[in-house]
Amino acid sequence: MTKKKIYKAAIAGFGIVGKRRYECIQANKNVEVIGVCDKKFKKEFMRKNNLNYYKNYKKMFENENIDLVIICMTNDIAPEVTIQALRNNLHVFCEKPPGRNLKDIELVIREEKKYPNLKLMYGFNHRYHESVQSALKIIKSKRLGKIINMRGVYGKSKLITFNQPTWRTKRKIAGGGVLLDQGIHMLDLMRYFGGEFIEVKSFISNSHWGFDVEDNAYAIMKTKDNKFAMINSSATQWRHLFNLDINLSKGSIILSGILSSSKSYGSEKLTLIEANPRKDNTTPKEKVFRYNEDKSWDKELQSFVNSIKYNKIIQNGSSYDALQSMRLVYKVYWDDKIWRKKFKIKSPGN
Ligand SMILES: NC(=O)c1ccc[n+]([C@@H]2O[C@H](COP(=O)([O-])OP(=O)(O)OC[C@H]3O[C@@H](n4cnc5c(N)ncnc54)[C@H](O)[C@@H]3O)[C@@H](O)[C@H]2O)c1
Repeated sequence: MTKKKIYKAAIAGFGIVGKRRYECIQANKNVEVIGVCDKKFKKEFMRKNNLNYYKNYKKMFENENIDLVIICMTNDIAPEVTIQALRNNLHVFCEKPPGRNLKDIELVIREEKKYPNLKLMYGFNHRYHESVQSALKIIKSKRLGKIINMRGVYGKSKLITFNQPTWRTKRKIAGGGVLLDQGIHMLDLMRYFGGEFIEVKSFISNSHWGFDVEDNAYAIMKTKDNKFAMINSSATQWRHLFNLDINLSKGSIILSGILSSSKSYGSEKLTLIEANPRKDNTTPKEKVFRYNEDKSWDKELQSFVNSIKYNKIIQNGSSYDALQSMRLVYKVYWDDKIWRKKFKIKSPGN
């Protein structure tokens, strides 16, 4: 006899990621999806293969007896649906970014505070990649000393890749371009490894694709304790690239490639380099670790479920993480005076 799953879930937004999350939940032993909603559905309601399909998310929240919702919608609507879900007494897992701007996540957090028994987690799934987890372990062990600087490139060849819908090119829906959509993962990892960045210098550009969102962001950032980080988030990276160099006082960690459904960022690798101060470091001691399976989505989901099951605080992807990563995105936008003026970007504060 198969064991009954303990949590009933719904998925709000059944596009590319919504379907991926659905598959991921199928493999989870604690959660069962009983409803999905998407405005693209033709009928207001339909039941098929033991699943209830709704066009309107509010109807789904009203009619379904669920414990949690996974929100995989466009950035314009995700904060509103998160707030409605909390008001319906649901635990919420929402995709990154948490909205189009800082105000969006601030409003969500204000609402979240009214429901201390509910869990709210954001989908910064890169934190759950094996190479990232291993890097964090090495950094925390202090065997390579302290972080001096980080250099990260995360780039794809267009704003819309792999037959994705076009909303990512529209400021009104997306709120921003490649930095908000993809670069936010790299910024989040830099925060994860290095802490909060208080000073930012940047240039933002949309000159290649010409949409009203950025196709490149370049930034140099500094933490309070003088760790430096550079990022290029790009939608003109013709060969897709994920690369993060972390240089510490006694060595380096290089993360290159990241496993994804498209496989276009290459296989995932961690290179561990140990400095030898007595030699010119042309041939430092190196070890390469390769990871061949992307378990990040499953691990992330299980971590959300565990936080509900055992009433634990959200470890990775809390609303605070979402706020701070969003704030960093907006610090990068804001420092470019031309960009700031053109799109009336408000000061993100510290
Ligand atoms: N964690 C990751 O690595 C990762 C990867 C890709 C995308 N994402 C995030 O996932 C989210 C969804 O991205 P996607 O690629 O699946 O986009 P998508 O366009 O394929 O899916 C979004 C869906 O939301 C639906 N929707 C929009 N407004 C709605 C409303 N008012 N009511 C009901 N349905 C509505 C759309 O019809 C669409 O089907 C985005 O926030 C994106 O940033 C995260």
